[in-house]
Amino acid sequence: MKLLVISFGCQMSTADGAEMARPLRARGFESASGLGDADAVILNTCTVRQHAEDRALSQIGRLKPWKEERPGRLLIVAGCAAERIGAWIEERFPYVDLVVGAKSIEAYPAILDQALKRSFDWARDDAPAWPAAAQEQAGAGAYVTVMRGCNYACTYCIVPAVRGPELYRPFDTVLAEAGAALSAGARELTLLGQTVNSWRDGSGRDFSDLVRAVDALPGVARQRFMSPHPFFLTPKLMRAMADCATVAPHLHLPAQSGSDRMLKAMKRNYTSMSYLAKTETLRTMVPGLALSTDFIVGFPGETEEDFRATLEFASAGDFCTAYCFKYSAREGTAAASAPDPVDETVKDERLARLLELVEANMRRRLDAMVGTRVRVLLEDATDGRTQFHFRARLDEPGVPGTLVDAVVTGRTDTALKARALSLASRPVAVVSLSS
Ligand code: 5AD
Ligand code: SF4
Repeated sequence: MKLLVISFGCQMSTADGAEMARPLRARGFESASGLGDADAVILNTCTVRQHAEDRALSQIGRLKPWKEERPGRLLIVAGCAAERIGAWIEERFPYVDLVVGAKSIEAYPAILDQALKRSFDWARDDAPAWPAAAQEQAGAGAYVTVMRGCNYACTYCIVPAVRGPELYRPFDTVLAEAGAALSAGARELTLLGQTVNSWRDGSGRDFSDLVRAVDALPGVARQRFMSPHPFFLTPKLMRAMADCATVAPHLHLPAQSGSDRMLKAMKRNYTSMSYLAKTETLRTMVPGLALSTDFIVGFPGETEEDFRATLEFASAGDFCTAYCFKYSAREGTAAASAPDPVDETVKDERLARLLELVEANMRRRLDAMVGTRVRVLLEDATDGRTQFHFRARLDEPGVPGTLVDAVVTGRTDTALKARALSLASRPVAVVSLSS
């Protein structure tokens, strides 16, 4: 039996997809190489913007011939769009066997078991309900989910509605899963959560304690976390980032806008000044820190002046890269019924202007790296990521999953070219345990 997992959207969705694959793997499913040899598909949907949802929905449509070819195949549609419009999906795509919304992920093993017993002969009473991550073969990098849901209410965002309130995984569970991923061969861990740095537990521990504990795990070469909220970037967390050698000198910290008027309307709980003050402090503590961010253009009521504040902020923030999105109204969110929507052509024009600035800054940052030494975690034979999160391509093949010291020799538009210093292609790869 073969399984294909297709995930749309953020890293949370990818991690959820891997987690949802586990009960099927425990029933003997192996990875399919593509749709052709897949007996089961888990399709993890996204709904954060309408475009993301549309892409996921058309993928369900494209799976119709696959399912009809062999009706005994299993099609599971999961994730955030499944939560938002699950009933509609069931009606519109009747060939889908199981629709499981994002809020049901904890209950999913039982739901899956029932569905398999109902319609398939794959149910096995001795299969572990929620097998541990250790049974998987990890790649160079592994995701570890530390919390789910969101207690914020950013006015544009559908996530709190489809994922529910924050739920923190216990400290020991997170560390056990991190340890298991390292034992299975992972070198880099990415701690995941909707507002990952709001993690805490009943005994007074907060996210900085988790970062320090992961740092102490044997075998971890590098750790990152996604996505932090600026409000919880506390002095204590900054200290932990500076102290822990495994924490990558890169932070993706979504800003959304540089206009305080818009930040207030978005209910982001910080100002452009407080954001920049925190990141400036962090830069003094973490040498060479690379910052990336998210921006939304065309939020309702955004004027040319507000947008210019975002352009100024993007320059002042000196971001190595930024993901820029046009505002997309999500039904049921506060902003969806806000007055003063921004014209689509104005959104397009603002997006283009912001991208031009962001991309120029990225090229400048890449240029500044030429001649410097980086450490590349190889995802395949030649391509990987440096500690600053830039993509890098080596001039000769190495061993995937190893860390290779390299000198930057040039760049493409979005990635670095590098010459390996430690010959990764030697039979014994040069691997160092500290980053
Ligand atoms: N419209 C546009 N972008 C959005 N994002 C979240 N909701 C919306 C929306 N309604 C963006 C934010 C967030 C990223 C994951 O997606 O920038 O950080
Ligand atoms: Fe959405 Fe805001 Fe929560 Fe992030 S912090 S998931 S943007 S509501």
